[in-house]
Amino acid sequence: MDWLKRKVALEALNWIEDGMTVGLGSGSTAELFLHNLKDKNIQGVASSKKTEKLARSLGIPLVETGKIDVTVDGTDVVDNSLTLIKGGGGSLVREKLVAYHADIYIVIGTKEKWKKTLHDETVPVEVLPFLHEGTKELLLSAGSYCSLRLDTNGYPFISDNGNFIYDCTNVKEVRAFHEKAVRLPGVVNTGVFLNLADVVLIGEDTGVRTERR
Ligand code: A5P
Repeated sequence: MDWLKRKVALEALNWIEDGMTVGLGSGSTAELFLHNLKDKNIQGVASSKKTEKLARSLGIPLVETGKIDVTVDGTDVVDNSLTLIKGGGGSLVREKLVAYHADIYIVIGTKEKWKKTLHDETVPVEVLPFLHEGTKELLLSAGSYCSLRLDTNGYPFISDNGNFIYDCTNVKEVRAFHEKAVRLPGVVNTGVFLNLADVVLIGEDTGVRTERR
């Protein structure tokens, strides 16, 4: 599957011009895109500490202010309304910010990320550690059983923002769940990205398919 990731990461480069401020996504596909950027004269806005580290190692200058011309990021899944579910890597809040503030938001992924509709999906939700078990109960009332994400040592996974992630499973109606969850006290945001993606580039065996909003 890596060659397909490379293909979409390369295709996304066509959207980048010298002088642009580029929102830099997180995850393995976004990282491949970052490697392609190293010869461009751009500045980046990193969506995670890991991406920040990689960008610095590639010599990409970073900023945290001003407008973003284009953001390029991967996704966990995307459906034909271009709704995304992200946050597999735990960077969903900053990823949503760089998506929201970009003039053009481009999503890159391989063919297995594409689904006709989103059903029975797992939705990551970033939650404040303070009274998080109470927030978990509220998420249950919003329509999903949610479990605290753990790191490889069995401790709670801590996001770049110092928060916990709950993975909410078998979510039937992701949009409805998102609308309820974001209103709950203790919830920072969910991994559901509604009405944000402008362009989705899907790597398929025969080439790269482009879907637009
Ligand atoms: C990070 O929090 C995620 O949203 C990633 O963008 C997503 O998991 C895609 O990652 P891969 O490109 O590694 O599949």
